[in-house]
Amino acid sequence: MSRDIRITPSILNADFSDLSAEIQRISEVSDLVHLDIMDNLFVPNFTFDFATASKIVSQSTLPVDAHLMVNDADRIGPQYAEIGCASVTIHAEATQNIASTLKTLRSLGARAGLALKPGTEIAQYAQHIDLVDMFLIMTVEPGFGGQSFMNEMLPKISHMRKMIGDRPIWLQVDGGISVETIERATQAGADTFVAGSAVFGAQDPAAMVASLRALAVSVAD
Ligand code: DX5
Ligand code: ZN
Repeated sequence: MSRDIRITPSILNADFSDLSAEIQRISEVSDLVHLDIMDNLFVPNFTFDFATASKIVSQSTLPVDAHLMVNDADRIGPQYAEIGCASVTIHAEATQNIASTLKTLRSLGARAGLALKPGTEIAQYAQHIDLVDMFLIMTVEPGFGGQSFMNEMLPKISHMRKMIGDRPIWLQVDGGISVETIERATQAGADTFVAGSAVFGAQDPAAMVASLRALAVSVAD
């Protein structure tokens, strides 16, 4: 059986003045919508405060995949689970109490995600694998949309795929995913794809999501 493929468009490069409408444009064809939360501390950029993010989550026509690029992930992560995000991803580099926070996310009804920046090694997180519902391998330095996919992350994706084995853990990639790069990320082992500028920079975002999915499905084993 081939791997399930999920496309989770990021609204980072969408029109912030009407995000409900932007999410609506990709709702029929996407699995979740990826919401990038940046605090201008963990990364040198800011997106939404909690009140604004809560409103986006409550109005979204898609389940929300929150990617928290914030310090103090142990405090902030559970808040995003409490407001109903389907998936909450904290950064390994931003948590002091990884096991406890991952367990809390699950207990609040969210999928528990763990993200690794490009320079962060996988090995030390193997011990927590059974607390994780999704690993996120960053394929750019977090902070901004529109950057180029880092090909040097392909071996890391393959390594993570081997570590996951037959566990039902999603393997997400984020950064520079487009029709040019999604096949190689899939071949390396990813099954869940964030795409920001590729989708919302396209004339027809929904058609772009469909194209990305078709390419990934065509090479998934
Ligand atoms: C970057 C964010 C991404 C961003 C991806 O730090 O985590 O989700 O929106 O944008 P693209 O797809 O343009 O690289
Ligand atoms: Zn992201």
